[in-house]
Amino acid sequence: MTTVVSVHSFRGGTGKSNTTSNVAGQLAAQGFRVGVIDTDIQSPGIHVLFGFSEDDLGNTLNDYLWGKIAIQEAAHDITDVIRSSTEVAEGGALFLVPSSMKTADIARVLREGYDVGTLNDGFRELSQALNLDYLLIDTHPGLNEETLLSITISDVLLLILRPDRQDFQGTAVTVNVARKLGVPAMYLVLNKVPSGVPLDNLRQQMADAYEAETAALLPLSEEVVQNASEGLFSLTSPSHEWSAQIRQIAQRIQG
Ligand SMILES: Nc1ncnc2c1ncn2[C@@H]1O[C@H](COP(=O)(O)OP(=O)(O)OP(=O)(O)O)[C@@H](O)[C@H]1O
Ligand SMILES: [Mg+2]
Repeated sequence: MTTVVSVHSFRGGTGKSNTTSNVAGQLAAQGFRVGVIDTDIQSPGIHVLFGFSEDDLGNTLNDYLWGKIAIQEAAHDITDVIRSSTEVAEGGALFLVPSSMKTADIARVLREGYDVGTLNDGFRELSQALNLDYLLIDTHPGLNEETLLSITISDVLLLILRPDRQDFQGTAVTVNVARKLGVPAMYLVLNKVPSGVPLDNLRQQMADAYEAETAALLPLSEEVVQNASEGLFSLTSPSHEWSAQIRQIAQRIQG
């Protein structure tokens, strides 16, 4: 059985793609078979963290959604990308299904949309074809049809927010939706926490606001900014507190 993990945030720029790629890298390094799928079709980006340029993406999720290929044909084996920075335990594997960066493809999605049911079938087919232990879904911010679908079919929902009033209020909306949809496990992840903020207070504030567990508090970090989505920071800087918190998320997902 594949555990499906959706990574979501109400507002943009919270750190979804950095968190998704790093948690995926950690799980694969531990010996799991992990798939990452970029469902942010309007503004894709997670491929950058795995070292892809826009020209070498090859087959993409778009090709699958438009009926041109089977979804596993859009899955790129990127295990070597993590192997270049860390040891990968036996059996560990990482696959990425990227979204197209071609202007015409993005325009077509915005113009015509796509069938969300097909996307759902794709999640299932990919999990089976690659015999995945974990499928991580990186999403577009806010609530829309595909994020509602990904929340509905998830075993685990990671909700990422920053210590910001707009994020706090928006996340409450998503938490309510997720509860109504009956997500089996939901964890909050607070990212970009400035230094000096009392963490116990923050944790309590989160518990009071959402009645959900906070899986990790990731520090706001100049080093992460400097990393600039160039590679998986938690693998290249394993002793950093941000990386320790990423490992904690990977641990929590494993139950
Ligand atoms: N803890 C952190 N400290 C500093 N910068 C961070 C931290 N986490 C993420 N960033 C930076 O924030 C920016 C946004 O991160 P990321 O792309 O992962 O967010 P996102 O939620 O996927 O964004 P979008 O909603 O646009 O898809 C990136 O420049 C990233 O390097
Ligand atoms: Mg993103």
